[in-house]
Amino acid sequence: MNHLSPAIWPSTARRNADGALEIGGLDVRTVATDFGTPVFLLDEDDLRGRARRYRASYVDAGARLVYYAAKAFLTTTIARWVTEEGLGIDVASGGELAVALRAGVPGERLLMHGNNKSMAEIEAAVEARVGRIVIDSFEDIVRIADAAARAGIVQPVLIRLTVGVEAHTHEFIATAHEDQKFGLSVSSGAAEEAVRRVSKLPSLDFRGLHSHIGSQIFDASGFEVAAARVVAVAQRIWDEQGIEVEELNLGGGMGIAYLESDDPLDVPDMALQIGDIVAKQCAQEGIPMPALAFEPGRAIVGPAGVTVYEVGTVKPVELDGGGVRMYVSVDGGMSDNIRTALYDAEYTVVLASRASSADPVLCRVVGKHCESGDIVVRDAWLPSDVAPGDLLTVAATGAYCRSMASNYNYLPRPAVVAARGGAAAVVLRRETVEDLMLLDPGAGPTSKA
Ligand code: LLP
Repeated sequence: MNHLSPAIWPSTARRNADGALEIGGLDVRTVATDFGTPVFLLDEDDLRGRARRYRASYVDAGARLVYYAAKAFLTTTIARWVTEEGLGIDVASGGELAVALRAGVPGERLLMHGNNKSMAEIEAAVEARVGRIVIDSFEDIVRIADAAARAGIVQPVLIRLTVGVEAHTHEFIATAHEDQKFGLSVSSGAAEEAVRRVSKLPSLDFRGLHSHIGSQIFDASGFEVAAARVVAVAQRIWDEQGIEVEELNLGGGMGIAYLESDDPLDVPDMALQIGDIVAKQCAQEGIPMPALAFEPGRAIVGPAGVTVYEVGTVKPVELDGGGVRMYVSVDGGMSDNIRTALYDAEYTVVLASRASSADPVLCRVVGKHCESGDIVVRDAWLPSDVAPGDLLTVAATGAYCRSMASNYNYLPRPAVVAARGGAAAVVLRRETVEDLMLLDPGAGPTSKA
């Protein structure tokens, strides 16, 4: 139980002489004292190392650019780190775009997504001269063309395809129908019609096709089916319209290990397999191999982040079939990690403020919200001497936890602190109740009576 599997924990995670967890040379007890709990702790070296590895592996496999998917977690500091490591950034809203621009990311390194981009978002993207806007609807074509024409520029675009493949871990579902909101349908011919319309508009520059098939994918089989369908479309566009697809963006979705039993493909293997698959399919269809692009989010930031909580109460509960489960309540919950409640996500948790040789006991780590579904880790084995005041740390919470956090029960959202070489830097400060009051016109200034 004191063990830290390197497949799950950040690369600098270790237990120090006191048995306490240390990340980036920082003892979690010091972090808790200095910044309060709950707190997200980010291993800067780990995050940068993953960014570098993704860039190198996917560029070797034929990628023009690897974009970091900002939705996983974005602050100006993260935007600077990934840019310094040679990645572009995929933004999916005007807010994410604003953060990337505030960080000084050059427009040509940005790509904008969205199935319902507002006119203001499109105008902001055009004004920033983003390198790619991904068209997701026929309305998008008209709106982006109009904004680009008004700005007097020619906007490079991709067209997002719905390929009827939904991938998750080792499983994928391939269907003929495409019952979801993203992209333009391959089977109905909408995708080719979109290319036809885009190519007639002088303010748009058609660069290629986009496909994103899902998240937390462990092997290349789903990409294989998707790539076959996308390359078939590229071949028809070439044959029927004489237009070359120069770029193929295969999205993100590369999976990470949350548990010991998770076994995603190694980064270079996945990159090489996908590159080979596309090359073979292009050769079969007799079209030139396009430049590739990818958009990993979780795989860059997920394993680099952990959440540190303080235990408040420990309650033994008798189970129906006999035995006991300890309900261990921490000072956060579904407001800082909705993934367990929303997706039945599973996590690894350890006692972090000390090592313990007490016998393991079956625990459920729960939050402090007014709802029984407020579970952080459904089943965990923790030392039976776990007690109020102890710190627990949940691994692999860097992606889709702070970025999906809420203020349920008026809980202020936690800080995010980066650790490197024993130094701490706040990349997002803790919210305060006063911050929340600023949104409430009736709250007025706090009186100091
Ligand atoms: N590109 C596109 C077009 C996407 O829609 C997404 C994720 C990504 C890239 C990045 O995917 P990643 O590499 O991070 O898997 N909230 C969910 C994940 C939703 C992902 C939505 N789109 C979760 O917490 O698991």
